[in-house]
Amino acid sequence: MPANTAQTLSTFSFPTLDGVDVRGKRVLVRVDYNIEQLADGRLRDDYRIRSSLPTLKRLLRDGARVGVLTHWGRPGGRVVPHLSTKPLAELLEKLLGQSVEHVPDCIGRMAQTAFDALPPGQILMLENTRFHLGEQLNQASFVQELAKLADVFVNDAYASAHRAHASTSGLAAAMPVSVIGDLMVQELEWVQRVLSPMAKPFKLVLGGSDVEAKLDLLRSLLGHANTVMLGGAVANTFMAARDLGLGQSVLSPAHVDAARELLTEAGVVGCRLHLPQDVWVQDAADTTQPATCKPTHLIGRNETVADIGSHTLETWQRLITGPGTTVFVGSLGVTENPEGRRGSLGILQTLAEQSGFNLVGGAGMLPLVQEGGFTERLAAVSTGGAALVDAMCHKPLPCLQVLAGRR
Ligand code: 3PG
Repeated sequence: MPANTAQTLSTFSFPTLDGVDVRGKRVLVRVDYNIEQLADGRLRDDYRIRSSLPTLKRLLRDGARVGVLTHWGRPGGRVVPHLSTKPLAELLEKLLGQSVEHVPDCIGRMAQTAFDALPPGQILMLENTRFHLGEQLNQASFVQELAKLADVFVNDAYASAHRAHASTSGLAAAMPVSVIGDLMVQELEWVQRVLSPMAKPFKLVLGGSDVEAKLDLLRSLLGHANTVMLGGAVANTFMAARDLGLGQSVLSPAHVDAARELLTEAGVVGCRLHLPQDVWVQDAADTTQPATCKPTHLIGRNETVADIGSHTLETWQRLITGPGTTVFVGSLGVTENPEGRRGSLGILQTLAEQSGFNLVGGAGMLPLVQEGGFTERLAAVSTGGAALVDAMCHKPLPCLQVLAGRR
């Protein structure tokens, strides 16, 4: 781990809610409720909303007047009705057990009037920040419009910590009082804990579709990890580097050479890197058909890999059992498809049976964690996807950089 990492992520470097008097103050809380929406508008899970409750409850209990801000999806500066935060406000109201007023804009007269009139201990939710182009551009005028709504800014949007947007790093820099929330504190402590030398033996189960980010993570953790197990599109790219035919499977041809180099490097530093020995495959032309399990060297030209195979799963379950720390980031199969969930659910099951500290993350993992009933049985489930990966790679997180040293 580079010498400056502990300092970069240490919650001691950032101002927190401890010691901030919020009674009667208008407190703007940036959360990340960017949750996958099904075709019929239902939410795939509510984990990110539940994770924001401790900070919100604390502020309400302390007599703050709370305004909640989030982005949702990528509306690109336009008002997209199905990405209105109204249903999120309704769900928050249910989970919080108190009324949450929804305000149909996040800046302007309507937002200001609603916030100014809000009594202490009450909460409102503003409209999607990305309905304004200024959000992603971190436009100074938009930041100022947001800043004048409130007295205190709390950034609890860990899953957006890698974005330098107006309602994240822009507001943090502009507000006279800016702190990180309790979720952000907890998430940073989890990352510190798994990167500490005490976390050894360190085992990494890595999947998901963003091959480039996952290769960065591997590069960064090769010296720390004792064992690495690769699934998903990352594994397909590594199998291509070993000259296996992958049929029609998703992989990243641009990263095959880098994967080959990492295979060599892993051997040099003594990290055991495991690729699937068998996989569940489907006919690429009809992925509604049941999958079949076969050794990786038998993947057919018209087939696509849906998941790691049964033998691989059993082997990896054995590898993550026992002492040490396991970090599981990114799903091992095509989890939108029921045929692609066996591997990820199997690993989650084994981690849930362990008594040690393990960390699960990646936005795509959250529905699986909740649907499988693992939320309470796992030591730590991060709300972060790309932010978690960047934090573990020791990349600077813009939302934290602006607050560093302001404690
Ligand atoms: C996430 O879900 O990873 C965050 O909410 C960031 O979303 P974005 O990639 O659309 O910025």
